[in-house]
Amino acid sequence: MRQPLVIGNWKMNGSLSLTSELLSKIDKAIDDKIACDIGVCVPFVYIDRANELVKKSAIKVGAQTVSEYSSGAYTGEISAQMLAELGCHWVLVGHSERRTLFNESNAVLIDKVLAAQGADLLPVYCVGETEADYKSGLTVDVIKDQIGALLSDPSIDLNRLVIAYEPVWAIGTGLTASPEEAQKVHAFIRSLIREKNAESAKQLKILYGGSVKPDNASLLFKQQDIDGGLIGGASLDADAFISICQKA
Ligand code: PGA
Repeated sequence: MRQPLVIGNWKMNGSLSLTSELLSKIDKAIDDKIACDIGVCVPFVYIDRANELVKKSAIKVGAQTVSEYSSGAYTGEISAQMLAELGCHWVLVGHSERRTLFNESNAVLIDKVLAAQGADLLPVYCVGETEADYKSGLTVDVIKDQIGALLSDPSIDLNRLVIAYEPVWAIGTGLTASPEEAQKVHAFIRSLIREKNAESAKQLKILYGGSVKPDNASLLFKQQDIDGGLIGGASLDADAFISICQKA
């Protein structure tokens, strides 16, 4: 039995005051009825404050990207070690906005996964097809390529990562894959992992992301291979985020 997991991705949103407001509301709402793990991936500059605020809570803080390098002359970059020192638990790797807007290739992303694992962070490796891929029936090929990159590196520990399937056309658009469609892709991802390691495939959490809201979360989370969600827009609204956690 995989414990459900819901992670909020604030993207480049928020402020110090919103960080306090959101986290204290979420923290207050967590009770026995919420039997899921909860994470928030906040902008780098709010990580320290966020960790202060959730010290006594079950919420775990993460970052939204990480450098593939451990240290050196990489102006503006943040290493996995630095994130670990701040008390980060997760780090998103390969969110579609990083892949497309910042040209992060599979090869670089695999180095980032390794850097994260090397610092004892849990990478949340994001995959998903664009609208054009989806319309051309290429979803399976894209997923195979993105997951294949992960599986091609034997130093990656498949027991210490989370995968998020986020169809790019569903991110921030209000569109979602149908629960059945999403389930098919999740089952496919799990089958690819199973070919490498059956035990890892069993315990691997695969999150769905892309316009998850309180009203569509239940049906998505009921699917056998959907273990929770990666939530963008709705994670900036405490009530919506709490409701999604309750559904998980
Ligand atoms: P969304 O974003 O929930 O706003 O669609 C999801 C994501 O980008 O992780």
